Amino acid sequence: MRIDIITIFPEYFRPLHVSLLGKAAGRGIVEFAVHDLRTWAHDTHRTVDDAPFGGGPGMVMTPAPWGEALHAVTSTALPGARLVVPTPSGIPFRQEMAATYAACDHLVFACGRYEGIDARVIEDARTSMVVDEVSVGDYVLSGGEPAALVMIDAIGRLLPGVLGNVASAADDSFGGGAGPMAGLLEGPVYTRPRVWRGREVPGVLLSGDHAAIARWQRDEALRRTAAYRPDLVAKIAADALDARDREVLSRAGFPLRGEDMAH
Ligand code: ADE
Repeated sequence: MRIDIITIFPEYFRPLHVSLLGKAAGRGIVEFAVHDLRTWAHDTHRTVDDAPFGGGPGMVMTPAPWGEALHAVTSTALPGARLVVPTPSGIPFRQEMAATYAACDHLVFACGRYEGIDARVIEDARTSMVVDEVSVGDYVLSGGEPAALVMIDAIGRLLPGVLGNVASAADDSFGGGAGPMAGLLEGPVYTRPRVWRGREVPGVLLSGDHAAIARWQRDEALRRTAAYRPDLVAKIAADALDARDREVLSRAGFPLRGEDMAH
């Protein structure tokens, strides 16, 4: 996969050389190219922003450098390339979107600063490629760079050959797809020693009884999801909950819908 990033802070992307993504790049699974937007700003100060029409606080990124930058970067675009514009006013980034992007051969991230990029840049880009305006969460960051790093990390770990254990992505919170943990947050995990500061690892995990372990893990996932993300429990299809699931949820104080109670 090829990932181009356009930013006024290329150094922000040094973490791409570290850890899992750095290794993936080293092995040729993903290729990163970081471009300084100011390359395409031609005045002596290499200006990329101006006051907003209509007034208001802050500055808006001017269209000319962006137009040139996108033209230059996408002139060698691979088929099906997508432009991703991180913005707090975008569609929410979710695990399914990470999976969709991981199946693309080429992504271009356009990182805005200040109050954002002149809207005509996005309109213009849409005439030649798929453009997604994407938010990583309901909070405002200082720019698109940290949001792009978050998305690239989530995408990168899904690329074939990046994670050591192929199964580990499917076990993640949100990663279950159609698996038994689909739509649930992952429960607690433990490793050696068996006792630490007087706290013992739950006995079932040492039992070797795979069915009992799977049931315990599902119980814990249900409890955690009910406590932290009741919105996710509400989304689970009624026929995806068995009698034990309902018992766990009701003990966790989760109010099941009337139709679910009938099962
Ligand atoms: N830029 C600033 N805040 C952002 C957010 N929450 N998501 C994506 N890009 C952003």
